[in-house]
Amino acid sequence: MPTGSPVPVVLQRRQPAAPTGQLPVAGPLVDRFGRVHTDVRLSVTDRCNLRCSYCLPEEKASWLPGGDILTFDEMARVAAVARQLGVRTVRLTGGEPLLRQGIAELVARLDSLGFDDLSLTTNGVRLARMAGDLAAAGLRRVNVSCDSLTADRFREITRRDVLAQVLEAMDVAEASGLTPVKVNVVVIGGVNDDEVLDFAAFARRTGRVVRFIEYMPLDAGRAWQRPVVVPGHEILGRIAARWPLAPIGKVGDDPAPADRYRFLDGGGEIAVISSVTAPFCGSCDRLRVTADGAIRNCLFAATEWSLRDAMRSGCSDDELALLFREAVWQKLPGHGIGDVDFVPPARTMSQIGG
Ligand code: 5AD
Ligand code: SF4
Repeated sequence: MPTGSPVPVVLQRRQPAAPTGQLPVAGPLVDRFGRVHTDVRLSVTDRCNLRCSYCLPEEKASWLPGGDILTFDEMARVAAVARQLGVRTVRLTGGEPLLRQGIAELVARLDSLGFDDLSLTTNGVRLARMAGDLAAAGLRRVNVSCDSLTADRFREITRRDVLAQVLEAMDVAEASGLTPVKVNVVVIGGVNDDEVLDFAAFARRTGRVVRFIEYMPLDAGRAWQRPVVVPGHEILGRIAARWPLAPIGKVGDDPAPADRYRFLDGGGEIAVISSVTAPFCGSCDRLRVTADGAIRNCLFAATEWSLRDAMRSGCSDDELALLFREAVWQKLPGHGIGDVDFVPPARTMSQIGG
């Protein structure tokens, strides 16, 4: 990185304050460390039509039985309770959410609940043909996963030959108003880290926000190793050496984990999500609900709270709300990936929902 570059070399660790207080029965979804939770990731299926090597096994992926998955009625009920508890933004995830039959209908139902933002993370394979319906149903924007800009590399990583479809889907999503389109790139040392500058050029050319994500230990194959994690600050350094960058300040109290940068010479934005090397646990405002209706208070949580079991045994909305409160209250201060006794969660990313 050239001297005088505005890019910080060491990103700040954001860890929470000391724990305090008692489980609140009213007010926002707050945890023992004062973190208020306003964002829910709702996974609508654990199934996927790709087999990204950092996520699913090449063969014998095992899916949840259909009956275990929340119905749209159950999801809408969960979302309504979350809305009552102060959740303002919802993101639909998977697996691949566009594999869920009738997904636009769910989007419309969630849209009617009045969230500030309603978005979706997709691998893009089915997006081109669905973008118009999703936008019409009330979806605001999409994040599209894309880990390589060359067809062969893309096929090696995802084990499917669909790069052209994914790139086309980004165009269609934009034409349908699902903007800004953000592009998620999981960077893995020795696999695709040589494409960092190509992706930065792509961001400059297309105006799409490219988000470089550090590889996390959430792969089915348990192949994750610390040395193949490419630190976010290294990615920034490489890009800034070619095209100087300036940090984009957080808007208000925006707790989004992405460290965002713009190119000093004009158009384009990139971001790094340094989940491993500079955890943002201290400002985390997220909850996840898996496709089978379990609340997870962290990607790496070892404990879950089943909304599905509660609903199917006839609980009230107040009882569901209490489950949310309890799950948030039990949240640990951080994910502990760097700890010697760290154990990756039993579920992979496809079973949790990014
Ligand atoms: N590490 C980091 N990111 C991952 N994703 C899936 N598995 C991993 C992993 N092991 C990403 C996907 C998608 C987002 C939801 O999470 O590529 O963009
Ligand atoms: Fe599918 Fe996403 Fe996992 Fe890739 S990372 S296999 S697109 S769920």
